[in-house]
Order: sequence, then C-alpha cells, then structure tokens
Amino acid sequence: MNTENKNKENKDIITLAIESSCDETACSILRNGREVLSNIISTQIETHKKFGGVVPEVASRKHIENIDIVVQEALDESNMTFDDITHIAVTYGPGLVGALLVGLSYAKSLAFTLNKPLVGVNHIEGHLSANYIEHKDLKPPFITLIVSGGHTHLVEVKDYGEYEILGKTKDDASGEAFDKIARAMGLGYPGGPIVDRLAKEGNPHAVEFPRACLHEKGYDFSFSGIKSSVLNYLNSMKMKDIEIVPEDVCASFQAAVVDVLTQKTIKACKEKGYKTVTLSGGVASNSGLREKMSELCAQEGIELKYPPLILCTDNAAMIGCAGYYRYINGRRDGMELNAIPNLKINQG
Ligand code: KG4
Ligand code: ZN
Repeated sequence: MNTENKNKENKDIITLAIESSCDETACSILRNGREVLSNIISTQIETHKKFGGVVPEVASRKHIENIDIVVQEALDESNMTFDDITHIAVTYGPGLVGALLVGLSYAKSLAFTLNKPLVGVNHIEGHLSANYIEHKDLKPPFITLIVSGGHTHLVEVKDYGEYEILGKTKDDASGEAFDKIARAMGLGYPGGPIVDRLAKEGNPHAVEFPRACLHEKGYDFSFSGIKSSVLNYLNSMKMKDIEIVPEDVCASFQAAVVDVLTQKTIKACKEKGYKTVTLSGGVASNSGLREKMSELCAQEGIELKYPPLILCTDNAAMIGCAGYYRYINGRRDGMELNAIPNLKINQG
C-alpha cells in the first residue's frame, strides 16, 4: 500500500475535510494527512440539550446555517485559500441522513466548482484515524477500540484502510448507554462527561451491575442489559422511597461498562498477538476507561495510545486524516456519491 505522504510532484498534499454526520458541523485543513493546520468545530450541544438528545431535523438545519462559516474559518486559520487545496474529504456515513447530506452536498459543490478530487470518508474510520494525528509514529497493524455515541467496535487494523471487525455491540452503543442513564437520572445531555465527573466521587462497588458478554466467546458487546439494570435499580429505589447516591450509581455503572470494554480489548490483543492498542470516539475521553486500560495494558506489556479530548469527539481533522490515506491510495468519488446512514467500517 502507498504510504508516501507527498504527491508525484513532491508537493504537499492539502486536505480540506468536512464532517456533519451528527450534531457537530466541522471543517479542518491538513498538510500531508497528519499535520492539522486548522480544526474548526461548531457544536450544537446547547441546541439539543433542551430536548435531551439530538433532534435530526434541527441538526440538519443547524448544519446548513453553520457550514459556510466553519469552512471559511478553517481556511482563514490555516492561511490557505481554495486554490491551495489538493482534495476535498467528506463524511458520507454512517450518521443521520439529513445531517450527512448537508456536508456531502457542500463538499460536492466545492469539488465540482473548484475542479478538485472528492474523497468520501467513513466516519468510523475517521474516529480511529484521530490516533494517526496525535501519534506521528503510529502505523498499522494494531487493535483499536472505537467507542462513541453511535458505535462500539473492536477492530483489527491490518493496514491503512484494511479492517477486520472483531466485535461490535449487539444493541446500544456504549456512549448511548451513558447518555440514557444520565437522562434517566436527570443529569443532562450529553451524559458521558457528566457521568464521568460524578463517577470520580462515587464508589464503583456500591451497586453490582451486570457485565454482559464478558465470559462469552468472541468479542461482541451488549450494553442494553447494563442500562436496563440501572433503570430498574433507580425505579426500585424510588418505590422504596430510598434516596439514591448519584455518584455511586455513576461510578458503579461506569465500572461495569469499563470492565467489559477493557477486558474484551485485552483478550483480543492477547489472542491475536498484538502489542499496540488504540482508543477512539467520544467515550475514549472517559477517565475511568483510560485509567483501567492503561493499568491492564501496562500489566500485559501492551502499548496504549489515545487521542486528545478534542480529537475523540466528532471533528473534521480525523476525517481529513482518513481522507488523505484514501486519496494517496487512489480513492476518488463522483457527484453520484450518496449519504449512507448505516455504512459499515469495512464497506466503503
Ligand atoms: O464520537 P462522538 O462525538 O459522536 C459519535 O460519533 O457518536 O461521541 C459522543 C458520545 C456521547 O454519547 C457522549 O456522551 C460520549 O461520547 N462521551 C463520553 C465522554 N465524553 C463524551 N462518554 C463517557 N465519558 C466521557 N468523558
Ligand atoms: Zn463520531
């Protein structure tokens, strides 16, 4: 596979990347795939907070309002003009179809009017690529755990763009479980960072929540059982008129999720013979997950890498990095490229 980081004329490759798959409108400019010149993110969290979750229609409207501003800001901050751009990279799935279509239509119009190559990027591949930006020496092969609001995947990265899914969630994504239990406890949206903060003050052994799939063969996950168990616990405490300790519930819930995520990942590394593991996605910012994974990796002599917080949650720099590797390996898309809401990591 081509891992050269310049084009044939030995000129820098400048990527303009666009991300709009959920509730962040983002644009980033990168030089040769791993150097981020600008990374602009307009988040809609405040807008969706009052609904307790992302409202797809509202997300699409907000993307339309923001995309022009975000792209201009990314160019300004990187001191680049459209003329300097080598190619356009854009998320085309998975995600909310209306949200994806805003970024994709914008990227297509740019590619068409500027006569620059268009490269469609898989959002999940984007998440794992965030590690290439932060860790300049990181190269495949390695094992990666991708944990976000929409996905929970354990993947063997065999080469740039070559993946084998070892396991995935059978039901809720890990971030979704954080958001749902936070909502049930009236803690606010998004739930992950709030639960993480409260968990630091609580006792992780206060309530024994189930660790689903832990002793099953294979690497799949399930989080709906843990979530239901928390909801049942909250209901039963309410019926008995016993006041809960939110910090303890958060710490116990987080410990259960972290146990499953970390043990499955270590098991995959050992069984497949890998010595490097990376984390990515919004839940990779979780302090409990980072701590436990660091501890277990150190015990097993496995190297652990994860991106800084700003590259864990949705951003366009990660899309640009993945798009760059697609570009140098010859991927080109036409104006017929469509949004694919349920795009799988190894399907395009
Ligand atoms: O990667 P991301 O921005 O969007 C998706 O592609 O889904 O991830 C957002 C998810 C939300 O579910 C949010 O609650 C979760 O990541 N999250 C966290 C933390 N920070 C964000 N979950 C646990 N602990 C955190 N510190
Ligand atoms: Zn994401």
